[in-house]
Amino acid sequence: MTVEYVIRKAHLDDVKAMHGLLLHCAQKGLLLPRALIYLYGHIRNFFVAEMPGGELAGCCALAPVWEDLGEICSLVVRDDMRRRGIGRSLVQACLGECRELHLQKIFALTYQEGFFTRSGFEVVEKSILPQKIWADCVHCPKYPDCDETAVFLHLGEARTA
Ligand SMILES: CC(C)(COP(=O)(O)OP(=O)(O)OC[C@H]1O[C@@H](n2cnc3c(N)ncnc32)[C@H](O)[C@@H]1OP(=O)(O)O)[C@@H](O)C(=O)NCCC(=O)NCCS
Repeated sequence: MTVEYVIRKAHLDDVKAMHGLLLHCAQKGLLLPRALIYLYGHIRNFFVAEMPGGELAGCCALAPVWEDLGEICSLVVRDDMRRRGIGRSLVQACLGECRELHLQKIFALTYQEGFFTRSGFEVVEKSILPQKIWADCVHCPKYPDCDETAVFLHLGEARTA
């Protein structure tokens, strides 16, 4: 079934809806919860998928990590809107922004490796992402026994479909 939506940069008044989407998935252990103060502070990193009535169907962030490295994070599509291309559109919006920022290497830590490999990402060892480990992973309660998969994309290799 096709569905109408637009992908756009997030606004501050999207934050409460984004928070709800992320919390719902975080409670299922699918991603990290994000506090409201984090979302307000990082609003410029986020894209949202907005439906015609103004409701949000999903959100996703591109977080620059190093001079040529960025992370796709906080990706969620509403349960009842999945498998309609919205997740891919959100990731494509982030990849478009990578090009503007001259970020060539993109990664995500995920339990949904199949979704990312469908968009051209490859599974890699986390040890190739030392900046992420220094900055974030060491503070994670699961460290060093991370059970997420690292997926990685060199933008020159991205699928355009
Ligand atoms: C992962 C998620 C964002 C995917 O969103 P979506 O809108 O359903 O994905 P799309 O419809 O754009 O799917 C794009 C492609 O990936 C496939 N796909 C989607 N989810 C998949 C999954 N979990 N595993 C394998 N393939 C998947 C789709 O079938 C589609 O394939 P196609 O190339 O044949 O068309 C969504 O399932 C979600 O919000 N999950 C919970 C939160 C989460 O785990 N986020 C990831 C954190 S890194």
